[in-house]
Amino acid sequence: MLKITEILMDYEKEQTGMDHIPQFGWKLESDGRNIVQEAYELDIALDQEFCDCVYRSGKVMEDSSAQIIVKDIRLRSMTKYFVRVKVWAGKEESSWAETCFITGILNVQEWKALFITAENKEDAANSKGTYVRKDFFINGKVKEAFVCTTALGLYNFYINGKKVGHDELTPGWTSYRKHLCYQTYEVTEDLKQGENAMGAILAAGWYKGKMGFDGLEKTRNHYGDRTAFLAQMTVRYEDGWEECLLTDTSWTGEDAPVVFAEIYDGEIYDARKEIPGWAEPGNPRGNWRAVSAVDYDMTVLTAQGSGKVREMDKVPAKRIFTTPEGDTVIDFGQNMTGHIRVNAWGKAGDVIELHCFEVLDSKGNVYLDNLRGAKEAMKYTFAREEEITYAPSFTFMGFQYAKIVSFPGKPEVENFTAYTLHTDMEKTGSFECYNQDLNQLAHNILWGLKGNFVDVPTDCPQRNERLGWTGDAQIFCRTACFLMNTYSFYRKWLRDVEADQTSEGGVAHVVPDIITGNAGADWLLQQGSHSAAAWADVAVINPWTMYLTFGDKEILKLQYQSMKGWIDFMKNHSVDYIWNYKLQFGDWVALDAEEGSYFGATPNDLTCTAYFAYSTGLFVKIAEVLGKTEEIKVYSKLYRKIVEKFQKTFFDRNGVMTAQTQTAHIVALYFGLVPEEYKEKTVKGLLKLLDKEEGHLVTGFVGTPYFCHALSQNGHVKEAYDLLLKDDFPSWLYQVKMGATTVWEHWDGIKPDGTMWSPDMNSFNHYAYGAIGEWMFRIAAGIEIDEKKPGYKHTVIYPRFGGNLDWLKAEYQSVYGTVKTFWEDQGEKAVLYVSIPANTTATICLDKAKKVTEADGLEFIQCEGRMKAETGSGDYKFVFEK
Ligand code: BGC
Repeated sequence: MLKITEILMDYEKEQTGMDHIPQFGWKLESDGRNIVQEAYELDIALDQEFCDCVYRSGKVMEDSSAQIIVKDIRLRSMTKYFVRVKVWAGKEESSWAETCFITGILNVQEWKALFITAENKEDAANSKGTYVRKDFFINGKVKEAFVCTTALGLYNFYINGKKVGHDELTPGWTSYRKHLCYQTYEVTEDLKQGENAMGAILAAGWYKGKMGFDGLEKTRNHYGDRTAFLAQMTVRYEDGWEECLLTDTSWTGEDAPVVFAEIYDGEIYDARKEIPGWAEPGNPRGNWRAVSAVDYDMTVLTAQGSGKVREMDKVPAKRIFTTPEGDTVIDFGQNMTGHIRVNAWGKAGDVIELHCFEVLDSKGNVYLDNLRGAKEAMKYTFAREEEITYAPSFTFMGFQYAKIVSFPGKPEVENFTAYTLHTDMEKTGSFECYNQDLNQLAHNILWGLKGNFVDVPTDCPQRNERLGWTGDAQIFCRTACFLMNTYSFYRKWLRDVEADQTSEGGVAHVVPDIITGNAGADWLLQQGSHSAAAWADVAVINPWTMYLTFGDKEILKLQYQSMKGWIDFMKNHSVDYIWNYKLQFGDWVALDAEEGSYFGATPNDLTCTAYFAYSTGLFVKIAEVLGKTEEIKVYSKLYRKIVEKFQKTFFDRNGVMTAQTQTAHIVALYFGLVPEEYKEKTVKGLLKLLDKEEGHLVTGFVGTPYFCHALSQNGHVKEAYDLLLKDDFPSWLYQVKMGATTVWEHWDGIKPDGTMWSPDMNSFNHYAYGAIGEWMFRIAAGIEIDEKKPGYKHTVIYPRFGGNLDWLKAEYQSVYGTVKTFWEDQGEKAVLYVSIPANTTATICLDKAKKVTEADGLEFIQCEGRMKAETGSGDYKFVFEK
């Protein structure tokens, strides 16, 4: 039976608060094979009965089921639109599938509300929470009501005593002066006839709290020194009357029981300062004062329809134990990012105080040093004798453990439950195989993503840093795109990448950029705050990766000027096509660095120019996708020149690379920069360098992501598996063997003798080296995108056996539906199971196949040295002799 299982709007199932018409797509399911959509019909209406349609496509005779762009419809602000789709394929017709989306405020002129603050100038130096509130009257039966809310700082919004929505840490972190997201909620059910009240609690957050590299005390108030709240509500009554309620200077403000909250240091909550009924109608006690309006450029506001931070996983405490030094510690069994919810009995004045941290030291004691200045603490003071449930609202912690500093009575595991906080994204990928250590690595990679996708892609979630380091975001992007639906998350953040570009197109090291102008005495950042190879290339590589993953041209259009700006920056700052510029991180934290240095041994000229070539090559492909004829010509020429120069400079006359490092060979091979005649020599060179380290990698951020690719693409799948499965230091599985539950920043975060890497930079939740995940999906599981038909419209299935794995299976939820592979290696014989989503096609390649004994109706032919077949959608099983 032909069925539409999901309708997607800008690649998401839910969009509440859109400021543009989303692209539509849908997933089809059918028990048949080779299902091709022949036609579709799409309606958009103002009512669920589809009587009042604003758009009817009619029957469109097309096979497209993604990236459907609807033109010529004029949306209204704060309105719910109903969407339905039906499709035809062969003799079948699906039934209608339905969804809806809600618009935000579409024109800047429609904003009537004011940003209001309950803080004054003196509050610049503190990070206390404040309340703002207002009573209002609902005079009639409400048909529907929507509200758009945001803040300078962090906020939780309440109507009649109840928090609206499930979002956390709103409005997230953007380059606030140039871009601020607002959230939209449907609040029809939250209102009642008669007296109502609304209010918000505000806190410092990223906006005015202490943030920066190494958390220098002076690096607070980056964007402003007073928190402020903005809300605009539209209430439509049954009788057709419409009312607008908004924040203005008639609201009042008071201090909140959150007496302190910051991103790094945690939250202090004093229940004695609670004001019962503060967000309910009436006259709550307290010294409510007048609020004042804060000027803000309303043109920077954008609607955030999806991709908001929420509580995602529930992780109950595993055990409570006493350390050799006598501390009482809670162990959650998993390193993570989020907060702890405590449930406890206490009496007036009792205190709960917990300090979160990631690892125990070699003796099993609390280890706080790697948090640097971050306190990661939560403190709650009881107002009276009662049972309470408390979780901090305006901070997040990176932790597996928490030290109990104070607790009323004897703490039990039941008192503590951790919740992860990260951007709400659908899990799209899963990976499992015969080797349990590799499964644990896959788990650690996923949890590295969860831990560092708290609204912006961060390097780490625990120490006083937690910044949007562009390099980390770049190298992990492809892996992240397998694991979760990253579309809204990256689309939002790429807007800030562009917003924070220099006028010459330079790309900031961290986005949102709070380093420029704040490097202080930092020896590293004083050298430059933007435009490092592999970091800044995020401007090109991430949109390209999104295009590959989702087939989305829109993101290429949106980011086109940003990408072009970055390529031009490199061009303008290169000397005869060799690019290098101020502060470079090179092959950051590679093990071939000199003792005590962060910088790997591969010369910057080489890594910079390699990335200059790679990004320019991608930019040419992007110009081709968008049909930019003139730019294709100009940048193809530039690309050829860079490659030529690279080859002349970094290979000697005998075809040997001038830099004898693993990373130099890896990038040259993976980026396609090796002259054909030197290919074999370069591959051999890499194998020799690997041999020299007894099969270990000594690569950093630049070389590591592509090491296995450089091997497997050049006929060395076995060596790629050997590298992946090494489990002594340094290797991916070394961390697993040491008990890691997330990916570490350093290969030697904890050394074999139990000592630690220097505490000045030793995160145990750094997703960067998790970039190996993409090799596990693309090569080991063999789920590969076809660049010519991206978004899995056509998939190349080509799993490579190896690593003594008896079996391996992976799944990816594409925009069309699920792509699955599952292989069993039985020695002489192998079995491969494959699922291809409806309305897509695939090429199936069988690794090492000599003879196909079960072809499941497909025709395999020998082609380019392997057995290949073309197919449409469906589930298949192949058996072959090796
Ligand atoms: C971060 C890295 C980042 C690097 C840049 C570090 O402090 O944690 O992941 O990319 O700085 O050098």
